Amino acid sequence: MREINASIPFDKRLWKQDIAGSKAHVAMLAKQGIVSAEDAQAISQGLDTVAAEYEANGVPVNLDLEDIHMVTESRLAELIGPVAGRLHTARSRNDQVATDFRLWVRDAIDEVEAGLDALQQALLARAEEHADAVMPGFTHLQSAQPVTLGHHLMAYHAMVRRDRSRFADARERLNECPLGAAALAGTGFPIDRHATAAALGFAKPTDNSLDSVSDRDFALDYLMAATQLSLHLSRLAEEFIIWASQPFGFIKLPDAYSTGSSIMPQKRNPDAAELVRGHAGRIMGCMNALCVTMKGLPLAYSKDMQDDKPPVFEAHDLLGLSIAAMTGMIETVTFRTDRMRALAESGFATATDLADWLVREANVPFREAHHITGRAVAAAESAGTPLADLPIETLKAIDARIDDRIYAVLTVDASVASRKSHGGTAPDQVRARIAQARKEKA
Ligand code: ARG
Repeated sequence: MREINASIPFDKRLWKQDIAGSKAHVAMLAKQGIVSAEDAQAISQGLDTVAAEYEANGVPVNLDLEDIHMVTESRLAELIGPVAGRLHTARSRNDQVATDFRLWVRDAIDEVEAGLDALQQALLARAEEHADAVMPGFTHLQSAQPVTLGHHLMAYHAMVRRDRSRFADARERLNECPLGAAALAGTGFPIDRHATAAALGFAKPTDNSLDSVSDRDFALDYLMAATQLSLHLSRLAEEFIIWASQPFGFIKLPDAYSTGSSIMPQKRNPDAAELVRGHAGRIMGCMNALCVTMKGLPLAYSKDMQDDKPPVFEAHDLLGLSIAAMTGMIETVTFRTDRMRALAESGFATATDLADWLVREANVPFREAHHITGRAVAAAESAGTPLADLPIETLKAIDARIDDRIYAVLTVDASVASRKSHGGTAPDQVRARIAQARKEKA
């Protein structure tokens, strides 16, 4: 029982929030005349001493005392005597832990936000640097149309922008204080829940005591936002892994984020990217764990809910590492833009430009233009040249309406420059979107 019941091995991470919640609670009890000003002061000072001890020596893990709330209260009693027992007036561990955990998740969201800001700065800087660099754009991982590397990186900026809005949204919904809901039904003491909510930086107290102690939506909101973010980080990690492979050769990952092989001296393995991809799986597992823990619980508190914390702590630690590693890789990766350009030029990636030219300049219906272009690609393929190197006689033999002006659209640079629609890959569009992102932030 002692071992299965104890949460102190992991919920000691809530100690700062637990002390802050208790200090707000006891100050309110004094203000409402529920405990004397003198007792409240002794309790508050005692809590400061406990906090200083935790800061210096860590939280003692005593399984007999079960959890962070009991460990702290018991140390407080050792320090100030029986008056410590007045702290738990008009409160239960049920509303106490719900408050502590909300405070913790709120701080966690702020940490993620800071990390994502740095990640976006890194993406913007590298995208600006490579706004003109042409690379193959893919569908089905087959060369499709040329795009710019800046545009590709800005796609991830757009994903992270949505992630940030999900975390901000989660933070806002989280920011109501359950303290004072007591065990499940509220309390008969004349407490002031608005005062404790304000003291702890919450927008307001929660409105239903049963929901207050049984709700873990805030933790799920965090895990779901973390899941979606980790999914994005994993997709970028996957691209880096593919791009770093010899057949692609689009990037060289810095030594700081790669490892060698113990047997193959030539190896430079993209371990950090692989772990970002791997961690995404674990983070999704944490989200799933808490969903399944919560799905069958009747109101109000059940001890199953003590299992809410390990998956959130684990996901947060993994996410912090993933964000930092990905930011570091983006900042330091070498993009081999010569290689990207060569591959963009070799895959007939301007075929659509040829078809579009026939529609625009020769008034050919697009479907027909598509067939004509298919024949041009076949000719280039058998000649072993890029489309732009086919002689005009060959092109004219395929369709007489083609003339010399076609060469202006067959280069990859002309192709990307032409895609000026809002959000398109043209370098000027990419620079405009970078400027927009910087302005939105300022
Ligand atoms: N350690 C518990 C948890 O994390 C605190 C709440 C305990 N409440 C109770 N009635 N046993 O959920």
